[in-house]
Amino acid sequence: MRDLDNSSRGRQAAEYAATADLAAMRVDYGVAHFGSGEDTDLDETWVAGGWEPLLRHWIEQATAVGAAEPNAMVLATVSLASGSPRPVSRTVLCKGLSPEGVTFYTNYDSAKGGQLAEIPFAAATFLWPALGRQIHVRGPVDKVPDEVTTVYWRSRPRDSQLGAWASHQSRPIGSRAEMDRVLAETTARFADVDDIPVPPRWGGYLLRPDEVEFWQGRRGRLHNRIRVRIDAGRQIVDRLQP
Ligand SMILES: Cc1cc2nc3c(=O)[nH]c(=O)nc-3n(C[C@H](O)[C@H](O)[C@H](O)COP(=O)(O)O)c2cc1C
Repeated sequence: MRDLDNSSRGRQAAEYAATADLAAMRVDYGVAHFGSGEDTDLDETWVAGGWEPLLRHWIEQATAVGAAEPNAMVLATVSLASGSPRPVSRTVLCKGLSPEGVTFYTNYDSAKGGQLAEIPFAAATFLWPALGRQIHVRGPVDKVPDEVTTVYWRSRPRDSQLGAWASHQSRPIGSRAEMDRVLAETTARFADVDDIPVPPRWGGYLLRPDEVEFWQGRRGRLHNRIRVRIDAGRQIVDRLQP
């Protein structure tokens, strides 16, 4: 191990102290979230009607308790940019949910768009700390039909539409000022247009899960994990050890 001078030792001690604080952070799942054990006993019967109603129900419950961005999910894709496969993740919003899958919208030329063009599979994780819950959704990803994108696009605020036109998502730009200038140009360009059209490289993706895992935190760390695998339209349900 490399010798440390005094100032490096001091820095390292401070880092260890910060680490100790992190190590002490602990949430007691179950009681704190629901007030009674009743709703925490996720079991195999909860997915008897399929994965989609339970995912929808949990988003609704997260909304009801005032969770911020209850439809946010961390989306992982695989990048081949460095020569070997590497995972990449970022947050997106789930803007559609059906028994077919979960839909999100983005720029098809973004980093994630390029990754999905090469490897059309993704994993997404919803996390609701307020409820001690998470859900993983994994499977192949396809673009949604243009008509589906158009319907969602029309529901977006004008500012968001202009932002989508202005941003070449994931590409570098010199400065904030340059970004603001592009936005001003875009705003001027569409000044006389009531219904801004969908940008040609913007749209939705549908992640069709072949595996969904529901996780409900439990006291004592013996959490409930129920995994649903979908094989040729049939559900295979397993309980996983925490
Ligand atoms: C709460 C939250 C929601 C977001 N929702 C979206 C979204 O729905 N679509 C999107 O393209 N980016 C969304 N973003 C931004 C992405 O996390 C990301 O920065 C962007 O899509 C570029 O990702 P990429 O370079 O990996 O393609 C969101 C970020 C946050 C924090």
